[in-house]
Amino acid sequence: MRAYIADIARYEGQQVTIRGWLHNRRSSGKIHFLIVRDGTGFIQAVMSKAAVGDEAFTRADHLSQETSLSVAGTVRADARARGGYEIDVSGIEVHGESHDYPVTPKEHGVDYLLDRRHLWIRSERQTAILRVRHEVIDAVRDFFNSRGFILCDTPIFTPAACEGTTTLFPVQYFEDTTAFLTQSGQLYNEANAMALGRVYCFGPTFRAEKSKTRRHLTEFWMVEPEMAYADLNDVIELAEGLVASVVARVLERRRAELQILERDTATLETIRVPFPRITYDQAAELLKDKGQPFQYGTDLGGGDETVLSEHFDRPVCITHYPAAVKAFYMKTDPQQPDKALCVDVLAPEGYGEIIGGGQREDDLERLQRRIQEHQLPQEAFEWYLDLRRYGTVPHGGFGMGIERCVSWICKLEHVRETIPYPRMLYRLYP
Ligand code: 4AD
Ligand code: MG
Repeated sequence: MRAYIADIARYEGQQVTIRGWLHNRRSSGKIHFLIVRDGTGFIQAVMSKAAVGDEAFTRADHLSQETSLSVAGTVRADARARGGYEIDVSGIEVHGESHDYPVTPKEHGVDYLLDRRHLWIRSERQTAILRVRHEVIDAVRDFFNSRGFILCDTPIFTPAACEGTTTLFPVQYFEDTTAFLTQSGQLYNEANAMALGRVYCFGPTFRAEKSKTRRHLTEFWMVEPEMAYADLNDVIELAEGLVASVVARVLERRRAELQILERDTATLETIRVPFPRITYDQAAELLKDKGQPFQYGTDLGGGDETVLSEHFDRPVCITHYPAAVKAFYMKTDPQQPDKALCVDVLAPEGYGEIIGGGQREDDLERLQRRIQEHQLPQEAFEWYLDLRRYGTVPHGGFGMGIERCVSWICKLEHVRETIPYPRMLYRLYP
């Protein structure tokens, strides 16, 4: 009977076939210990000469890493085995041999591994990370779907900038038009929210950021909810709820993966809403107290975020940044017009910003002025201005970067391991 390793407990005492790849082999005179993986897990298959006969035993002598094979045998509980079970092999069938597999258990440099990303993703650690990513995405979808948000996808080819003109990727769009890969679905999301009330989009987004940091990709996945009739407080509560629910879900369903990654889960267990909230001004004070060189009035840099996010034991919401450092669409605070009604959520343990969002400018004239101040072409935004011409309402939302979220939850050194094929400043292959 075909069985997956993840379900092996169901088959105790039964004869099964596992179809997978050889991860590792150790042999003593009369026994081969085969570690087999099938994509759902790893299991040790014990092949004894006595059970399979001399000929089959000798044929298995040379089997090397990543040979694809089917292993037939009986499932036996063994408290010492990983996963609690082993297979006593009755026979194997080799599908494809694999010689000199380039990614061995020894340490390889990161560029070497990234050049072989298509093979590197087979490793135990990488599959654990990709499973956590899957869980994060599934939890995100469940969170919004169960709250009545409608998934409403936004285009990838766009005519104009959303998040600043310096990080656009141009694409030739037929003969005489330049399109840009989307930086964010937000502007379309706002239109969709006026149609459907509460919506989200979830897709790849692109930034031509020449930053070589552990937080930056040029192609990353972002989930963006948007709500009509919502203010900054509603946006913050939604963001807190999302983060708490994603973390709880990974803890509930992906403990084994977190263990493989040696992730200390104590700091994740304590995450509960509400999160601490501080203003930009308070953040600036805190940075000063901590001796961090920070120029008041500028945006928070990666180093500043690291310092702030190490100060709190859970995610922290930073609100009311200077409007001057934020995007054109942000609504300014009527009480302090130089500040924006915005929020960034910083993940703890030094991870920094995982969410950015806020309340949108819903007044036609003020928005037109912001577009001018940012020297953006008004023609390209006429449709967006229509949302303020025809039944404008207070509204807001945010974007959460999936890779940054996974990087923090797995406690990785770099976002490059959180996506199957990372795209970065110097990385377009494979
Ligand atoms: O703060 P950002 O730029 O906000 C927006 O794009 C808004 N339009 C979203 C909205 O309100 N609907 O990006 C949002 C999030 C960041 O907090 C971060 O998690 C992620 O997207 N992000 C990146 N992740 C990886 N690599 C990059 N270069 C990223 N840039 C942003
Ligand atoms: Mg941001």
